[in-house]
This record gives sequence, structure tokens and C-alpha cells, in this order.
Amino acid sequence: MTHSVTVRVPAKVNVQLAVGAPRPDGFHDLANVFLAVGLYDEVTVTPADELRVTCSGPDAAQVPLDATNLAARAAIALAGRHGIAPDVHLHIAKDIPVAGGMAGGSADGAAALLACDALWNTGSSRDELLAICAELGSDVPFSLIGGAALGTGRGEQLTPVEVGGAFHWVFAVADGGLSTPAVYGEFDRLTAGTRVPEPAASPVLLAALRAGNTAVLADSLSNDLQAAALSLRPSLAGTLAAGTTAGALAALVSGSGPTTAFLVADAESAHKVADALLTSGTCRNARTAVSPAPGATVV
Ligand code: C5P
Repeated sequence: MTHSVTVRVPAKVNVQLAVGAPRPDGFHDLANVFLAVGLYDEVTVTPADELRVTCSGPDAAQVPLDATNLAARAAIALAGRHGIAPDVHLHIAKDIPVAGGMAGGSADGAAALLACDALWNTGSSRDELLAICAELGSDVPFSLIGGAALGTGRGEQLTPVEVGGAFHWVFAVADGGLSTPAVYGEFDRLTAGTRVPEPAASPVLLAALRAGNTAVLADSLSNDLQAAALSLRPSLAGTLAAGTTAGALAALVSGSGPTTAFLVADAESAHKVADALLTSGTCRNARTAVSPAPGATVV
């Protein structure tokens, strides 16, 4: 019998993304408040003759299947630490928008890591897995833990944040992706010659999450990459406007975009806003989801 392990992993939205000046290593210090949302990828790992990645789902064609895929990199990194050959078939059942600012690639990295760890029975501690996640990318550790967390440093140093209730969202999926480095580069261009303040988490926003207060959260959402994403993709302004016109309490670009996120009052409002976004013609797809969601989990 061939043993296989499947891990389910959520997407994220950044409810606050405060970005500092570029560091000498090219990264930016962040105050990044991550919230995991209930849109999931599933990664299944099965022993194989050699490392292989496949992907299914409507947008599977946009997912790289070579060694740049974070799921492959996760398997290689974990195998390397334990002197194991990374001979596995990684299958990604993709439901998170690709290159959309929802950490879909990071999610697959965290899921593959957890799945390989279970398959190989390495006995790695949570902290060891989180350290590998941080090497794979700034958003990968959060995909492992889920829930909500404040990410500092380049976003990889996490402090869990309490969430006191459910929040309802609509996500408008744009045509094509946006490159994260390109959006950070545009942020640098737009802020050149200005003093970029030290990034700091908003106490009001953290309190809104703790209280489960949608109205206060709606007033305190912020994303310092939004201007850069809009500068590279001006049409996103029309998507944001269509969602707020349809009754969303707040609208913002998700992470580096181009997915846009709409906070709404309840599930009924979510369906109304999603329908309006779809008929507006300003996006390719609209998805509803509830937060918080658990991190990567073996199913
Ligand atoms: O960490 P990750 O590989 O996901 O980052 C992708 C790119 O995003 C980096 O190469 C960098 O250009 C940019 N980035 C940044 N500051 C961060 C996180 C990412 O400039 N804190």
C-alpha cells in the first residue's frame, strides 16, 4: 500500500500591511497583520521515484511545476535537514487565487512541509518547521499557524493575535497576477524622497479583531502597498468602487494584489456583494469566505 498524506491550508488577507523603508537586504520591515480566510488549497504527498509536482483546479495552468514551486522547495529543504531523498509526488489541489496577494504559493509551501514531515515522520518540532517556513518566504510561517497574527521583521516573526468573532469577506479575483517584488519596487518608487515611518501595528485594529467588531475593523483596515498596486494596475480602482457601491463596509487590495478584499456585515451581504462584483465586469471571479481559519492541518 502506498501511504500518502494530505494537508489543507488556508489563504490569507492582510488586514493591516504597514511597510517601512527598504532594508540593506532589499526586504522591507513590516507590521503585517495576517488573517487566515476560509479558501483552501490541499497538498497531497505520496512516495515516488523522484520529486514531481502536479496541480489541479481552474487556474492550475498558471502554477509553476518546477523547482521554483514553494511546495517542491519545502520538500527539498526538509529532506536536506534529515538526510532523506525528496522523492515524492506533490499534488496541489488549487483553490486559492494564483499570484493574487492571498499567499497561495506560501500556503502550498507550508502544506507540503507539514505533509512531508508527517510522511517521513521526522519528529520536527513546531519551531523547526517554522524556521524552514521563514527560509522559504516571508508569508510561509503564517500559512502554517493560521488564525490571525502580527508579522514583524519581513513578516516572518509572528505573534498570534486573538480573534473574538467571525468576519465575512468577498474576494474579487483579477485577470492575471501581480509580481510581489514589482509591487514593493513601485512602493519604493512612489515613496522615494519621503520619510517612510517605522511600521507599527494599529492598536484600534487589534482591538477590533479581539472584539470581533466588524464595523471598527472596517474603519481600521489599511494596506501601504495599495497605492503601488493601483499604480501598476489602475483598473483595480473600479473593482474597489464596485464592491463599496454594492454595500461592502470596506474595500482594500489584498497584500500586493491584484485580488481585492471586501469586508461585509454577514453572509447574506457577502453573496449580494459577490453577485454585484461579478455583474460589474470589473473582475474575473468573486469568492466569499469567512475568517479566521485554522492553519495548515493534516486531513
Ligand atoms: O519573502 P518572499 O520571497 O515572499 O518575498 C518576495 C519578494 O517580496 C521579495 O523578494 C521582496 O522583493 C519583497 N518583499 C519585501 N519585503 C518583505 C517581504 C517581501 O520587499 N517584507
